[in-house]
Amino acid sequence: MRIAILLLSLLPVFAQEAPKAEHKMPAPKNLKLLTPDELMPAMRSFTVALGVKCDFCHVKGDFASDENPHKDVARHMIELARDVNAKFPDGKRHVTCYTCHRGAEEPATAPPEDAPNQAPK
Ligand code: HEC
Ligand code: HEC
Repeated sequence: MRIAILLLSLLPVFAQEAPKAEHKMPAPKNLKLLTPDELMPAMRSFTVALGVKCDFCHVKGDFASDENPHKDVARHMIELARDVNAKFPDGKRHVTCYTCHRGAEEPATAPPEDAPNQAPK
């Protein structure tokens, strides 16, 4: 019972936090693929998927700029992932940036030398 009351009393706190966080960013002005709602969850997932910081793809202090070529690659990769997912018959999202990148800027195309189940040489 006490826990229930505690949780209820926390509800308004969370209800107020969410919009505040959104307002810190100015409205996006150069989106070609993502919706404003998709934007920040996507950005956070990109940094985790590639193991990078925001400025790997963005000119410092100007998120709308397309000057950093990595941002353009990332746009192509968003389309690539969408194309692959569109080919799955169930319409669900199976392939994400992390599926290939696994925390690395450049995904591995071959397993490491010491990977298990290697064919005998
Ligand atoms: C792997 C590359 C990549 C990383 C890392 C990344 N972004 Fe982005 N970001 C993009 C791409 C691509 C777009 C444009 C998406 C589109 O065109 O729909 C974008 C757009 C944005 C925009 C919208 C700018 C505007 O006005 O149009 C903001 C804000 C933004 N990113 C913030 C961030 C933040 C904050 C981080 C770190 C947490 C981050 N990004 C990390 C690739 C990246
Ligand atoms: C099907 C596998 C696959 C998926 C899914 C994928 N990538 Fe990639 N990505 C690659 C490969 C392979 C490379 C290296 C070859 C190249 O740079 O073109 C790469 C390179 C990149 C680079 C350039 C890195 C560098 O060092 O210059 C960026 C940025 C990038 N990916 C972002 C993304 C983002 C963002 C997503 C999710 C929307 C994504 N990728 C999804 C396979 C993938």
